[in-house]
Amino acid sequence: MIRWFTAGESHGQGLMVIMEGLPAGLPITEEYIGAQLARRQRGYGRGGRMLIEQDWAHIMSGVRHGMTLGSPIGMTLENKDWVNWQEAMSVAAVENYSQEGRNKRVTRIRPGHADLPGAMKHGFEDVRNVLERASARETAARVAAGAIAMRLLEEFGIQLHSHVISIGGVWASPKEPIDWEAVEDSPVRCADPEAASRMIAEIDAAREAGDTVGGTVEVIAENVPIGLGSHTQWDRKLDGRLAQALMSINAVKAVSIGPGWDVVNLRGSQVHDVIDPVTDPDRPWQRKTNRAGGTEGGMTDGMPLVARFGIKPIATLRNPLPSVDLDTGEAVQAHFERSDVCQAPPAGVIGEAMVALVLAEAFMEKFGGDSIPETRRNYQGYMKTVGPRKLFQ
Ligand SMILES: Cc1cc2nc3c(=O)[nH]c(=O)nc-3n(C[C@H](O)[C@H](O)[C@H](O)COP(=O)(O)O)c2cc1C
Repeated sequence: MIRWFTAGESHGQGLMVIMEGLPAGLPITEEYIGAQLARRQRGYGRGGRMLIEQDWAHIMSGVRHGMTLGSPIGMTLENKDWVNWQEAMSVAAVENYSQEGRNKRVTRIRPGHADLPGAMKHGFEDVRNVLERASARETAARVAAGAIAMRLLEEFGIQLHSHVISIGGVWASPKEPIDWEAVEDSPVRCADPEAASRMIAEIDAAREAGDTVGGTVEVIAENVPIGLGSHTQWDRKLDGRLAQALMSINAVKAVSIGPGWDVVNLRGSQVHDVIDPVTDPDRPWQRKTNRAGGTEGGMTDGMPLVARFGIKPIATLRNPLPSVDLDTGEAVQAHFERSDVCQAPPAGVIGEAMVALVLAEAFMEKFGGDSIPETRRNYQGYMKTVGPRKLFQ
């Protein structure tokens, strides 16, 4: 069973991940993980923090001579900004706290962030105790874990991509098939260059106004075998697990599999994907459409998995909203500290990581194995049985 956890504060010493349940013999390098981390750091609309950080995951355990050992993989990611926060984020109690350190206390609650519920829940007098962990800096650790999950999926031909389909009300109409290299080169990770220019203008206008914009992102996983997940229990349904994983990304407020809300006004005959007669035993169960987004009954259906999510505009505004002070309850302007204007482009990379982690978990549930050759034997054995019963059993 694949399990993983992250730890770490935004301006603490760094982030940590422990991931276990991977088979032995999976080739993995820090460079491979670093390439995914670099993708998360790019994107038009990011704030100054990304100029400071150059994320790198140091593998501390679970890998030897470039191969997983089957033991827990431990990774640490340094926060380069820590040097500026050693007093304010000190692990040990601080005597003679400097004025600069005291200034880092936050009491002007930001509507839309974790500040108010987090402070009430834990009895904090400093909102920094909440925001340091609620910050999306934590998603760098998820991307590191997700990169390992992707490496596993790649061994079995599964590929993940993502692209931005809206920012600030500007919608893309990308040409099919999507040119994934062009998406990687696009500053907003959008496959429609004309819409991308308007998205950039929208981000600039929001920045100019001291405001922020959200957007919509699509993650696609190709070549996923049929039958991952399960119809038999609520918490094993793959669509439900994907929804939880994607909704857990900071600021995500909507998730759909396939077109989601678009199907509610249509008739069944316009929504479901007709199955073609099987003519090629190596490619059974083809469909001309994929409106289901790759799942039926909580299981993958052999078509590409397509998940979308909607991300709200960032809550930290340079032109702050009216709010209240945690100490006094009196009216103040909400706290502002260095912040992104739009996080939709990097959110795609985080979405890919979360989808990869869910798929890798489901893949190992289905195929098991303590080494890659064992997992491969199980996978190949199953794939031989996937076809019309009378032909392939
Ligand atoms: C990649 C990414 C970057 C983010 N950057 C910021 C930021 O700079 N400032 C901010 O206030 N929120 C940012 N957020 C959103 C907050 O982390 C999020 O709104 C907050 O944790 C509250 O959680 P909720 O929006 O899910 O309710 C970012 C989110 C993502 C995915």
